[in-house]
Amino acid sequence: MRLNSPQINIITKACMKASRSLIRDFGEIENLQVSSKGPGDFVTSADKRTEKIIIDELLKAHPDYGIITEETGIINEKNVNNRWVVDPIDGTVNFLNGVPHFAISIGYEEKEELKCGVIFDPIKNELFSAEKGNGAYLNNSRIRVSNKKNIKDALLVTGGPKLSSKIKDEIFSDYIKVTKNIPNVRRYGSAALDMAYVACGRFDGYWQRELNYWDIAAGIIILKEAGGFINIFDPDNKVPLKRNILASNSNIHEELRDLILKKNIE
Ligand code: IPD
Ligand code: CA
Ligand code: CA
Repeated sequence: MRLNSPQINIITKACMKASRSLIRDFGEIENLQVSSKGPGDFVTSADKRTEKIIIDELLKAHPDYGIITEETGIINEKNVNNRWVVDPIDGTVNFLNGVPHFAISIGYEEKEELKCGVIFDPIKNELFSAEKGNGAYLNNSRIRVSNKKNIKDALLVTGGPKLSSKIKDEIFSDYIKVTKNIPNVRRYGSAALDMAYVACGRFDGYWQRELNYWDIAAGIIILKEAGGFINIFDPDNKVPLKRNILASNSNIHEELRDLILKKNIE
């Protein structure tokens, strides 16, 4: 059965509309790369432009719904019963450098429970979507996480740390603990696509600390519906929208979690 809730249709429509201007903006990047001004300010306005198109579409459908957004902040803050979670460009540094690996990510939750989500890569025209209880899709095909059992053969992906991170040592230590045991780890620069790629079996697992909720909201529901396991670890209750996440197929999940959470590097 294909996904058909009103919310998934609203999100998909907003993604499609925003992606037209995003693709145009991406086309400009190449010119700006070689200009003396550079693409920095342009990308900031592309981010804002994309987010505005999405917000306008979402508010047109439901003026009263809450929206957590990366650029604008929280809209209709009091409504936590129905809330969209929006990242207009996930993978900004890729976008800024003309690397075609970024996505629009929009999740939808009711009473703080994720109900559906879409991650759209406008360059590859890949739309990952899921709705609670109805499975996950890449365009019109059903997707599932990989079935790999031996963690040593796994292809993993991670991200961070940011320059401003206060826990860089911890993040590097996670990386060493994993790569001492698993040779193939990538860093692709879009948390949303990292999760979507685990959902469709291209990667076997993903972990990252210090993410924002808008980076991963859509990814969480897509991954769960694709049969993936998700662990939100070491929560910091002082920063409500921050998340540390580990996501993978069910076979390697425990082993990967133990590796990341163990005290010493071995
Ligand atoms: C970033 C990307 C990146 C991750 C960063 C995020 P942005 O989002 O998802 O992969 O490593 O932590 O902030 O800034 O491109 O929307
Ligand atoms: Ca992001
Ligand atoms: Ca972003």
